[in-house]
Amino acid sequence: MSVDTSGIDVGRERADTPGCHGVVHLNNAGAALPTRPVLDTVIEQLELEARVGGYMAADLVAERSAAVYDSVARLLGAAPEEIALVESATRAWDMACYSLASTFRPGDRILTSASEYASNVIAFLQLASRHDVEVVFVPDDASGQLDVAALRELVDDRSRVIAMSWIPTQSGLVNPAAAVGAVAREAGVPYLLDACQAAGQLPIDVDALGCDFLSATGRKYLRAPRGTGFLYVRRAWIERLDPPFADVHAAQWTAGDRIALRDDARRFESWERSVANQLGLGAAVDHALALGVDAIAERVLGLGASLRERLRAVPGLTLRDRGAQQCGIVTFTIADVDPYACAAQMRGHHVNISVSTIDFARRDFEQRGLTAVLRASVHYYNTDEELDRFVELLRTAPRA
Ligand SMILES: Cc1ncc(COP(=O)(O)O)c(C=O)c1O
Repeated sequence: MSVDTSGIDVGRERADTPGCHGVVHLNNAGAALPTRPVLDTVIEQLELEARVGGYMAADLVAERSAAVYDSVARLLGAAPEEIALVESATRAWDMACYSLASTFRPGDRILTSASEYASNVIAFLQLASRHDVEVVFVPDDASGQLDVAALRELVDDRSRVIAMSWIPTQSGLVNPAAAVGAVAREAGVPYLLDACQAAGQLPIDVDALGCDFLSATGRKYLRAPRGTGFLYVRRAWIERLDPPFADVHAAQWTAGDRIALRDDARRFESWERSVANQLGLGAAVDHALALGVDAIAERVLGLGASLRERLRAVPGLTLRDRGAQQCGIVTFTIADVDPYACAAQMRGHHVNISVSTIDFARRDFEQRGLTAVLRASVHYYNTDEELDRFVELLRTAPRA
């Protein structure tokens, strides 16, 4: 059992989470269950659009839409003008890295982690071939996290960006984001931090982290609707970066042959968006802030540790989480058990878990000699009883 001192009223949170009642949801690193107020916010906006049309509906909630930037800024310790709302973490990451490409010269280097998410690396490899730059994977230390000393050794005048996933998709690992930020600052190299799995799970303070850019999604630990994400761009970087593409929202066509980009982070946004989903994101962020992200982190990390403890009792099971600090993502393999069959079996028992595969983090899987791991990711609304049930199912499930 986990000892919970977070102060979160789990019963109340579950009562306000419609999805909790039909399923043991342990795929929060995929997409968490939204709260009833998030769901209502989205549905109400869609109904308003159906009644008055999407444009008038947007006008009617303009103030609430503007407040979403304030909420996200508060979550990050940033200013609202440093926030761009986009449709995914990948789009946020891409806007930062394809913009930064204008600073790349042949022979430059992109320094990134070995546990990086595939989409992040795909963008860098595409840029590497376009600009004749090299992607360098910083090795892990003995614990499995990015080796900060090795990074310090690697940084030189060819380094154009340091980019890292704080929490990777395929492991409970929490990378040393602030220590990496300190190296980046010391060296004067821009730092792009992927906080996709961290937003809503860990407290975030962009100044303490020392990042210049931060990308995240809404649908994971923040419990927001799918199709939402955001990019933080440090004030000093906004006007130095030309977005890879711009539209009538990001820029103005000021004369026959001239455009003027916005002077805030919204130069990285698109004009068209789901207002309903963005209001849902705002409601989800406000909920996390009201609960307190410190309290959320305490409960999620506590449940994660407690699940690892329980899993040790399952015959043939090997925990696959690495790192000096671990989070609510718990990964494992079971001898002679096909992960897909196991996840399907669990689904049959109304337990949602997922499978992380080499396609999502090739470098990390290759270096560990793995092709797939099972991933059970907890949130604060999960309970000890749910974890017991899941582990008992794993223990007793017939093995092929
Ligand atoms: C670490 C990490 N970065 C980025 C992403 C991509 O997020 P999105 O699907 O919102 O683009 C994921 C998704 O699982 C992720 O785990």
